[in-house]
Amino acid sequence: MQILTFKTTEEIGAAAGKLFVETVQNNPKAVLGLATGATPVPTYEYMAKEYENGNVSFKDVTTFNLDEYCDLPKEHKNSFYSFMVDNLFSKIDVKDENINFLDGNVEDPDAESKRYADAIINAGGIDIQFLGVGRNGHIAFNEPADEFTDEAFKVKLTDSTIEANSIYFDDIPMPRYAMTMGIGSIMRAKKIVFVATGSSKAEAVRAMVKGEVTPSCPASILQNHPDCYVLLDEAAAALL
Ligand code: PGA
Repeated sequence: MQILTFKTTEEIGAAAGKLFVETVQNNPKAVLGLATGATPVPTYEYMAKEYENGNVSFKDVTTFNLDEYCDLPKEHKNSFYSFMVDNLFSKIDVKDENINFLDGNVEDPDAESKRYADAIINAGGIDIQFLGVGRNGHIAFNEPADEFTDEAFKVKLTDSTIEANSIYFDDIPMPRYAMTMGIGSIMRAKKIVFVATGSSKAEAVRAMVKGEVTPSCPASILQNHPDCYVLLDEAAAALL
């Protein structure tokens, strides 16, 4: 892991965004692994600005998002799909048909998992994957568990995750289940850009970087990834 510490979230967004933009400049057909939540917003702002300034085009990229809530219509304002449209897709020239999401409303999660795994393989694998982290060390919605997962699956969200994300739900209760990419799929990405900001992530970052590799801190598996950037602000890096 290459650990870098920054003063502001804007600086982190620029550093992470640059890694994505450079990947697309070098390979206009790059496959991008994307995430939702507060953490990637400055990165997406940087990418949108670079597109607006004519420095990069996303017209031939393919995207795969990490996760999606179950039992929530895709078009609902709190779906991760809507988040991506609002924060990135509506601001760049990515094509709709190249955007991939897990479907949280399927009757057969196992078939959906297989469909997503096949789609990633058919796209040639993920070139660069953005990752945030939960306060409990989760990556995507891989919650602390007894073993590391491989492909996508349907997960029951933990109380910690529900507490952290409930703030975004003002009209309906937050879903209790989600479809998430598995740890194996994440680890097969050629490059990983991990970002954590704020003191609420400090313990998860410490366990991830300094602790043993264990599924009780899913992010700790990143110690085994050959090309993983860890971009932190000082609050998130405080326990290192
Ligand atoms: P956040 O979520 O970016 O909103 O803090 C990160 C996560 O739960 O993975």
